[in-house]
Amino acid sequence: MHVVGIVASPRKYKNTDTIVQRLLDGCEASGATVGKIYLNDLDLRPCQACKVQDGSGCVFRDGMDQIYDVFEDADGIVLGTPVYYNTVSSQMKLMMDRSYCLARPVVLPSGGRIYESSVGKKKKGIVVSVGGSGSNPDCVLPVFDLWSPEVNLVIVDSVLVTRAQLGLAPMESAELLEKAFSKGEEFARSLAA
Ligand SMILES: Cc1cc2nc3c(=O)[nH]c(=O)nc-3n(C[C@H](O)[C@H](O)[C@H](O)COP(=O)(O)O)c2cc1C
Repeated sequence: MHVVGIVASPRKYKNTDTIVQRLLDGCEASGATVGKIYLNDLDLRPCQACKVQDGSGCVFRDGMDQIYDVFEDADGIVLGTPVYYNTVSSQMKLMMDRSYCLARPVVLPSGGRIYESSVGKKKKGIVVSVGGSGSNPDCVLPVFDLWSPEVNLVIVDSVLVTRAQLGLAPMESAELLEKAFSKGEEFARSLAA
């Protein structure tokens, strides 16, 4: 089983990154191989809304190619974002927008239209959402729920925290980091099952 962490915070080794890493450590302890990608390190162009959805992929060739490979190859993905203005960070949003090309319209006999993912492999995902003074880190979940079918991913769990709730920076909470480790172990076991 291979699990990839995708970190959408620009701040390495801070809250989002630390919690994603603890989840990955737990996955590793359950026998998974792991990798981690910092979206902020990639050269990512914003979606230009060309709306090509014929399975040929995005018209741009840039850092997103690495992410498209993850969508095809990983068994599990840990998606970590800080909360910025009650939604995901711009790095995460950019990755999501660039997934639009992976949806394929299918016309039903009734004339209606549904969308399927052109990504072959079905995957599971965990969302890590880290806020500061706000108290609603779950605000990102509807965004992930809307996006995840495009890449053939089912969100099965989440770690949702804010400084407002914990009273200290999430990365300073040993209890939270232990919980993230356990969730990682459980996640990898669920992938193997
Ligand atoms: C541009 C910006 C917008 C933010 N908006 C929110 C917000 O709406 N709600 C919230 O709880 N925290 C907000 N924060 C605080 C971050 O979510 C918080 O500091 C988080 O821990 C950052 O994660 P990091 O340590 O991985 O960088 C914002 C921070 C920035 C830089």
